[in-house]
Amino acid sequence: MTEIRALVAGNWKMNGLTESAAEARALAEFLTQDAVSGCSVLLCPPFTLLAPFASLLEGTGIGLGGQDCHSNRAGANTGDISAEMLKDLGCEYVIVGHSERRAGHGEDDALVRAKAEAAHEAGLKAIVCIGETQDKRQAGQTLDVIQMQLAGSLPDGSGIGNTLVAYEPVWAIGTGLTPSLEDVGEVHSLIRQDLIARFGTEGAGMNILYGGSVKPSNAGALMAVDNVDGALVGGASLKAHEFNGIIDAYR
Ligand code: PGA
Repeated sequence: MTEIRALVAGNWKMNGLTESAAEARALAEFLTQDAVSGCSVLLCPPFTLLAPFASLLEGTGIGLGGQDCHSNRAGANTGDISAEMLKDLGCEYVIVGHSERRAGHGEDDALVRAKAEAAHEAGLKAIVCIGETQDKRQAGQTLDVIQMQLAGSLPDGSGIGNTLVAYEPVWAIGTGLTPSLEDVGEVHSLIRQDLIARFGTEGAGMNILYGGSVKPSNAGALMAVDNVDGALVGGASLKAHEFNGIIDAYR
């Protein structure tokens, strides 16, 4: 079996002002006081905080990531940020295809794939998000949706060094709801099978994160499910003590 180093990533979404640096500092402090052996830790603050966080997190072992990037390397794309710019600031990762981008900005699998490709070209690791809506789950189409999104959103050159998959059921994001552990296990094992079928040993070694209402009280159980190799955390990553409580699953 391939040894996979888990990753616990915090997605701050459109939250955080300069004063929020205090939370990042507090998180670094928690990790110093009580070292984490079983996972890597990542913060993805809004673009406006990447530069200050890059210097603040230096030497703490906490990685830095963006929440989105454009599919182009540079050019006339007002308001957008390229993967190269993220890399230039010290990011190692970028989230692409989050359901809030898919739903709110009309991003489809082809665009998500192009963004992941741009991330790869810039030397970033793409965290590619997939997940079914409540309607699809109720219609019994979860596994079909997952397989379609996975096939459509991952570029051909995906592998251990440049890609992570995040399974985030849309209905579990920010709602306090989570799928049963059995359902999480079913989806993650399907993702693993598909990754292996397409990418071979690389597919066996890629992280598959779970995301959607992860909190300190459920993190231990969710992270113990087979083929769950870490978490993508929204709301509970905004407060250092809560995020630290999730990281406890790997202490
Ligand atoms: P949540 O968000 O933890 O607030 O549910 C997860 C995500 O959207 O990545």
